[in-house]
This record gives sequence, structure tokens and C-alpha cells, in this order.
Amino acid sequence: MAGRVPSGPEGVPFLGSSLRYADDPLGFMERVADEYGDVARMDVYTQEVYQVTDPEAIRRVLVTNAANYRKPSLGGDEGLGGLLGDGLLTSNGEHWQRQRKIMQPSFYGDKLNEYADIIVRDTETLADSWHDGKHIDIHREMSELTLRIVVESLLGARIDGMERTIREALLEVGERFRPGPQGFVPEEVPTPRNVRYRRSVEILDRILREVRREHDVHGSEDDLLGTLLGEEADGRLDEGSVRNEMMTMLLAGHDTTALTLTYAWDLLSRHPEKERTFHDELDSVVDESPTIADLGKLNYLETVVMEAMRLYPPAYVVYRQAAEADELAGFHIPAGTIVATPQWVVHRDERFFDDPEAFRPERWTNEFRRDLPEFAYFPFGGGTRKCIGDGFAMREAKLVLATLGSRFAFERISDTPLSLVPFVTIHPEDPVEMTVRAR
Ligand code: HEM
Repeated sequence: MAGRVPSGPEGVPFLGSSLRYADDPLGFMERVADEYGDVARMDVYTQEVYQVTDPEAIRRVLVTNAANYRKPSLGGDEGLGGLLGDGLLTSNGEHWQRQRKIMQPSFYGDKLNEYADIIVRDTETLADSWHDGKHIDIHREMSELTLRIVVESLLGARIDGMERTIREALLEVGERFRPGPQGFVPEEVPTPRNVRYRRSVEILDRILREVRREHDVHGSEDDLLGTLLGEEADGRLDEGSVRNEMMTMLLAGHDTTALTLTYAWDLLSRHPEKERTFHDELDSVVDESPTIADLGKLNYLETVVMEAMRLYPPAYVVYRQAAEADELAGFHIPAGTIVATPQWVVHRDERFFDDPEAFRPERWTNEFRRDLPEFAYFPFGGGTRKCIGDGFAMREAKLVLATLGSRFAFERISDTPLSLVPFVTIHPEDPVEMTVRAR
């Protein structure tokens, strides 16, 4: 393969500063794209990475030449793969293919509509516990809610009273992926962070065993966990693989949606006129509780979710590794290269989005969507490894926003912008404190 060799900061001071990935990952990725263009070489800790920000090249990585780009196991056993093993998010090859086929039916068609009742019911229970003037950390509330929803709908169990423990353990697990100069310290080394990490994984494993037992009593054969347990009973899946899929669902199935909701509430609370449009639409469509049928009419609501995921894509970068050499946007990609396609950078590119930093749900007209290059907006990734929960997440986000937005508005307690930290997903560093206002 021919093609130019990309340039990049190569880990030395540039732009008059010594900014490194670990100091400010999001800013670093943006500056690399600004300075070095659509294919740039950079160092992420000790790993050389080619950052790709041209939508057509991203399409080649994720779709048209996807066979050449596998999921890398970044950090090896010390990375996400160490926690999720051969679960759907981190596996490759035949095992992944088989699992995806088995699990797919739980995420499409009528199944999705069945989850709507659980989503609305759990959200209303939460709303009933609030009153005008109550102070809440909206991110904590959204995380605990989405945890309850994913466990109840996909794993067929209730976790009443355990949400806080699960969330705290998951946050501790996330700390392991906090950017920092140290990279990954092998798990056996008893640093304080590692000790907390291992203890948290044990807590989660204990809870997952309880969920399994509860499923025997309350779950059904055809929910997702029922399907996996059926495979296990038939000897096609072992207990460890079932555990890995459950852990994957716990993590991938709640955090990203909770973040989308948190960012949507944050953005609405900062833009009163957009918030008014959002409320007016809800008032004109929703009767008692929102339904799946209502979602078809709630167009502004949909654009709020899309715009929140544009500005704050919970999954802010997708990594792949080239098996063979390739060419992307005219640049040579040697065999073995790790390629990063950062939603964070592409979603804020003014070639595709006017006034890219602005929260403008109304930009998502039909014409705009039609004209937008395919991979200029890809919050759920793309190709065969596209998020299996995309439909689930969109319905969940819209139903939660509609249920809560019909009854409440949320006022930010502080004016300071959110401070964001990219772990596996982009998190707010501090609690997102809000006052609940009855409408
Ligand atoms: C707004 C919410 C969500 C966002 C932004 C999101 C984003 C993503 C992205 C970008 C990927 C692709 C990663 C890659 O290609 O390397 C992905 C994969 C995945 N997501 Fe999501 N996700 C969301 C919600 C969910 C939900 C609700 C579930 C489960 C209930 C879920 C489960 C998964 C799984 C299992 C994969 C791996 C799929 C595979 O490789 O076959 N996600 N997600």
C-alpha cells in the first residue's frame, strides 16, 4: 500500500506547550486534528495511535474494509478485556459472531416495545419520590435509574436497594481507566487503586450471582439472561461466558444512556428557550404517561437526544487495529497500526456542523440529516460492531426524558460548566447538582 506518512506531535512539546494525551485527552485529540489533519500520528500513553477524522475513512475502517480492522485489546488483560473477558463488547472472531446472533433478538422488534412499560414504570417511581425544591445529583439519579431498567428488562431481576452499591462499585472500576501518566499498573500490584478495583469487581460478581439466582425465580426463558442460561444448560456456553455477558450488560447497558440523559438535562437547564420548546411539545403530545406511539410525534425530543450525543458522545472514541497495511484518506497505514476514530472530534467539526459548540437541536432537520456524511455523526459506532443497544438506548432516553420532563424542570445549582473526564466513556468529574422544580 502506498500513501503518505502522517505527521503528528510524536510525544514532544508542540503548539508551544508540552500538552500530552494524559493531561487533557479531549483537548489533545482536537488539537491534533486541527494541527495535523484527518490522519495524524499521536501517542496515547506508550501506544502509537493514528487518529482518523475523515468520515469516509472512518467508514472504511468500520464498514467497507472492516474485515481488516479488529478490536484491539488495549492494555491487554489489564484493560477492559480483563473485566469483560469474552463478553460481546470485547470479544472477536467466531465467539463474538455466535454471541451476537444469540443476543440480537433481545434488542430488536417487539422486544424493544415490551421494555417501554418497565422504563416508564421505573421512571415514574423515581419521579414519585421527588418534590418541588428537592436537591439531587442528576447524574447519580440517572445512573441508578438506567441500572434498574437494564437489569429488569434484560436480566429479568430487580435490584431494589442495591443500585447505590452497584453504581459505586462500577465507578471504582471506572477509576482504573482514568487517564493518567501511570497507564495500567498490573492488577496484582497492590496499589490503593488496584485494591479498590479488585474489591469492586468482587462486589459486582457477588451481585451478578444474586441476579442469576433471582432470575430463576422471576425471570423468563426468553429474556436475554434466559437465552444465555439456556445456552449454558445445553453446553454451548460456559458459566464464565455467561458472567462476562452479564457484566458487559451491566456496564455498557447503563452508563452510556445515563450520561446521555445527564448531558441532555444539563444542556436543557442552560438553554431556557430550548427547554420551553421541549416542555411545550411534551404538553401537547403526552397524556398521562408517555407511550411508544407518542415517541413518533415527539420530534423535538428526538433532536434534543441527538444533539446531546453530538456534543457529549458518551463513547468518545472507537479503536481498531489494522491486520494488513491499508490506505486511509491517502495516508499509509502499516500493518498492526492502532487506529482511533474519535466521535468527540468529528462531532465538533465545523466542516459538518455550523457553530459546532452550540446546543442547537433544531439543526437536525430532515435535509440536514440527509446531507450529513454518514460518519460525521456516529454515537453508536458503525458496521457489524455497531452498538447492539442503539434502539434500546434511544427509546429509553426518550421515554425517561418525556416522563420526567412532563412533570419537572431541573435547575442547575452552579453555573460552572461541567468538568469532563474521559474514562471508557466521558464522565462529569463532579456531582451534577440540580434543584427539582414541579411544573
Ligand atoms: C446512548 C447510549 C449508548 C451509546 C452512546 C453506546 C455506544 C456504543 C458504541 C460506540 C459501541 C461500539 C464500540 C466499538 O465499535 O468499538 C457500542 C457497542 C456496544 N454497546 Fe452500546 N451504547 C449505548 C447504549 C448501549 C446499551 C443500552 C447497551 C445494552 C443494553 C449497549 C451495549 C453494547 C454492546 C454489547 C456493544 C458491543 C457490540 C458488539 O461489538 O457486537 N450499549 N456502544
